[in-house]
Amino acid sequence: MTNKFKTSSAEETRNLGYKVGKCITMPSVILLDGDLAAGKTTFTQGLAKALGVKKVVNSPSFTIMKSYTGEGVDLHHLDLYRLDSVGYDFDLEDYLVDGIAVIEWPFQVEEVLPEEYLLIKIDKGNLDERTFTFIPKGSKYEGVLKCIG
Ligand SMILES: Nc1ncnc2c1ncn2[C@@H]1O[C@H](COP(=O)(O)OP(=O)(O)O)[C@@H](O)[C@H]1O
Ligand SMILES: [Mg+2]
Repeated sequence: MTNKFKTSSAEETRNLGYKVGKCITMPSVILLDGDLAAGKTTFTQGLAKALGVKKVVNSPSFTIMKSYTGEGVDLHHLDLYRLDSVGYDFDLEDYLVDGIAVIEWPFQVEEVLPEEYLLIKIDKGNLDERTFTFIPKGSKYEGVLKCIG
């Protein structure tokens, strides 16, 4: 079973996010690790669609977190890029009981990360090529990978 998925357009990345959204159960934590413009937010847009989120999902860079209402589930979209400068006095666990957390720049503050999560590393190739490497931590997230594969 592969843990690598290649996309060659934003649309394909949205489709991959959609698949993941259909395979996850709540609560779940997904970490998106990749450079600027790797496709973290684009991926999240597809995932949000699968959860029934109707609003447009865009980069939460200046707000740390945006929450969206889906069908019977909340999506919490976090961008921790600037968390260092803001100081972190929130407990991620508080947001996880009722939903799905998708975290861009997760390793800014490893202290807030739970023990189990689905880490997705995104590498940029030529032009529009992206490689998504899934690294599940915990049996629940291994199940998600099986579901997609
Ligand atoms: N295969 C691809 N997957 C995702 N985005 C792509 C791809 N190819 C080109 N792009 C472009 O790269 C940019 C990704 O932006 P975004 O999703 O906001 O990245 P990030 O959140 O990682 O900074 C968008 O402009 C998108 O159109
Ligand atoms: Mg982004």
